[in-house]
Amino acid sequence: MTYRITLLPGDGIGPEICEAMARVVAASGVDVEWDRQLAGTAALASTGEVVPAALLESLRKNRVGIKGPITTPIGKGFTSANVTLRKALDLYVGLRPTRVIPELRPEFAGVDIVVVRENTEGLYAGLEHTIVPGVVASLKVITERATKRIATFAFEYARTHGRKKVTAVHKANIMKLSDGLFLDCCRQVASRYPDIAYDEIIIDNCAMQLVMNPTRFDVLVMENFYGDVLSDLCAGLAGGLGVVPGANLGDDCALFEAVHGSAPDIAGQDRANPTAIILSAALMLRHLGETRAAERIETAVHRVIAARTTVTPDLGGTAGTRAMTDAIVQAMG
Ligand code: NAI
Repeated sequence: MTYRITLLPGDGIGPEICEAMARVVAASGVDVEWDRQLAGTAALASTGEVVPAALLESLRKNRVGIKGPITTPIGKGFTSANVTLRKALDLYVGLRPTRVIPELRPEFAGVDIVVVRENTEGLYAGLEHTIVPGVVASLKVITERATKRIATFAFEYARTHGRKKVTAVHKANIMKLSDGLFLDCCRQVASRYPDIAYDEIIIDNCAMQLVMNPTRFDVLVMENFYGDVLSDLCAGLAGGLGVVPGANLGDDCALFEAVHGSAPDIAGQDRANPTAIILSAALMLRHLGETRAAERIETAVHRVIAARTTVTPDLGGTAGTRAMTDAIVQAMG
């Protein structure tokens, strides 16, 4: 069978790491026809849109896509292509599994955390306005519908992936109404999953525990902004954004992604670490039911990183993107 998958190479190091990812997927034996599309700055220059209609059409049709990082101007300019894609395709789940490679981060060996982030509302939605000059307000909207939907995803994920516990992360001691509603919804959903343990933790304590005692966590579910911050904290435990995969999932479409940025400082220099996008491709293959191919890729990546002889400079090595990709392909046997 041939899968047709939308590929967004993105900006900066995006094209280099996507080329590496496509080589590894080909070596896994899964047959993929890449439907290449533009987004972000490149798309703006050629189509006048950051997220062109052709891209959305491709993702709706193929239902699965993978993307490199997209440059977003800070404090001005166009809205993030990532946020636009999440909204347009209702990709309501931000999924970030973090499994620490012990040889890379021995102090965090055994950490295996999955962050499930609500992707559509909360403070991160950026609903801001100026009340009078010098006073601005940013709205945090939490709805029962979106919270039950994300909580149900977290419990279903736990059940289907052999996980034991879901922890809801909140600040309901202060934001009694918004985070209070979030917790009420999580509790209602939890009651339908007696086989999965459920507990709750206040976000500031959670941040500390993630550093002091991270192996106590399993699946974490939280609103958008908390998820944005804590998923990067978890990535830090594993060795940074260059080594963890990510996905944005909806009921009709799944978009896998390297969660790091476009790294303009090293673009075009054969220095980018391709791990994040390669592990995201493995997540994608699991989503497609190609579990064996996904496992082969993950094992090969872990082996190459654990050996530390052919890794990129961010992991303390001297290898280039291409050489590290060669090593991963070779490790797949
Ligand atoms: P960045 O992640 O691009 O870079 C931060 C540092 O990490 C840099 O020193 C960079 O060289 C390094 N780095 C990142 N990925 C790496 C990799 N795979 N291998 C080796 N080193 C790597 O973050 P920054 O500088 O804040 O953002 C640059 C641009 O990327 C901005 O326009 C930002 O909006 C965009 N961005 C896009 C994201 C996405 O599309 N998912 C996510 C984060 C940022």
